[in-house]
Amino acid sequence: MSVESPVKEPAVVPGTGPGKVPAHVPPELVREPGYEGPNTLDDPFAVTVGAFEELPPVFYWPRPSPGRYDGTWVVTHYEDIRDVYQKDELYSTYNAANFQALVGETFRMIPLAVDPPEHGKYRILLNPYFSPRAVTAMEPQMRQVINELIDAFADKGECDAAYDFGRIYPVRVFLDLMGFPQDMLEDFLVWEYSILHNFRNPEKIKYGVSHALAYLRSFIEEVRAKPNDRLASHIVHGQVDGRPVTEDEIIGTIFFLWVGGLDTVAATTSLMFRRLALRPDLQQQLRDKPELIPDAIEEFLRVQPLVNSSRLVKQDHDIRGVRIRAGDYIMCYNLAGNFDPAEFENPREVRFDRTPNRHFTLAGGPHRCLGSHVARREMAIALGEFLKRIPPFKLKPGADRAATPGLVAAPNVPVVWS
Ligand code: HEM
Repeated sequence: MSVESPVKEPAVVPGTGPGKVPAHVPPELVREPGYEGPNTLDDPFAVTVGAFEELPPVFYWPRPSPGRYDGTWVVTHYEDIRDVYQKDELYSTYNAANFQALVGETFRMIPLAVDPPEHGKYRILLNPYFSPRAVTAMEPQMRQVINELIDAFADKGECDAAYDFGRIYPVRVFLDLMGFPQDMLEDFLVWEYSILHNFRNPEKIKYGVSHALAYLRSFIEEVRAKPNDRLASHIVHGQVDGRPVTEDEIIGTIFFLWVGGLDTVAATTSLMFRRLALRPDLQQQLRDKPELIPDAIEEFLRVQPLVNSSRLVKQDHDIRGVRIRAGDYIMCYNLAGNFDPAEFENPREVRFDRTPNRHFTLAGGPHRCLGSHVARREMAIALGEFLKRIPPFKLKPGADRAATPGLVAAPNVPVVWS
């Protein structure tokens, strides 16, 4: 498939401030990758096909980000991305996912915005709820939720795989994991969407953040008075370093889980069904051999990198001869790294027998996604149950098939079967 290159050469404006480039950045390394807009391609990530030829392996993107920084270094190659994730002596997650700063809050997003070794004590607090064994215990509830959702459309010959269940299912699983009331589903979906799908619209992000925080704080008071066995209560009544957690630690942890745990699975699920609707051959492989589903999930994750993580640089150093300064930001461009031919043979091909398949969709290093087992199991169960109950399906003719930017997702995937 030929895709026109969206990479543009931006005007270089030295200095600091939105859209400006610091003086130490060589002008020839300033690039605007432009892969972020919505598209309707069969593979929404095909826009990055030329990334390795079009972009230098290390470049500077003068990309303003609300309330935080003027621009960022970007690394595109697999081994450089791996280094940024792993070398916590050079890179910090300080202020990562700092949505709450937009409404004047000063708590940290925990555990993401905390560097090792302090970071480890929060993982110890949370780990019991995310281990493979804990996730296995969630399976019956996952199956029940997905089957209730499929019941509603199984006889109709069509459904919107993104809207009717891809969007709702992970939120219902998350509500149960945390102990939130199931009737918060619609409000959570609205707030979450306004935060994660409006990267260029701070007012919408503020709306979602302020409503979510007001609700979460009132919920924290409820479980403080009435403990239960769910994760939110475990955090509220938890200990780190042998002392009770502070108010900032409680809201910082619960809010980060709320941001990280809802829409990521929904977005991945929507893209997975979109791809399967367009690729009957992939559907058939999984219908013939359902045991391939866990490896298929891993491959769907690889070819659908939703998030590009950012880090703050702690010390001056060079990457491929380019001077990176302490205080700069650097972004792991998973959109390119997950397709690096140096790591993945025929990287644009979707193959369920890829081993090893060490992609970056769930990041890497100490901040590797804590919810990865939950996410994988949720998606495997959704896919397995759907394929068991629904015959071969395809996209509804004339359907809007746009994939949206931000946290890349397909808001609607109307599919039909006979
Ligand atoms: C397909 C779904 C998911 C994707 C693509 C995803 C992606 C990510 C990524 C890229 C990071 C690292 C961010 C960075 O290093 O800057 C991360 C961290 C994290 N994720 Fe996920 N995530 C998913 C599902 C979940 C779920 C379901 C939960 C919880 C219920 C969750 C909880 C977390 C937590 C707590 C961290 C922070 C880990 C740390 O800093 O130690 N994630 N996730």
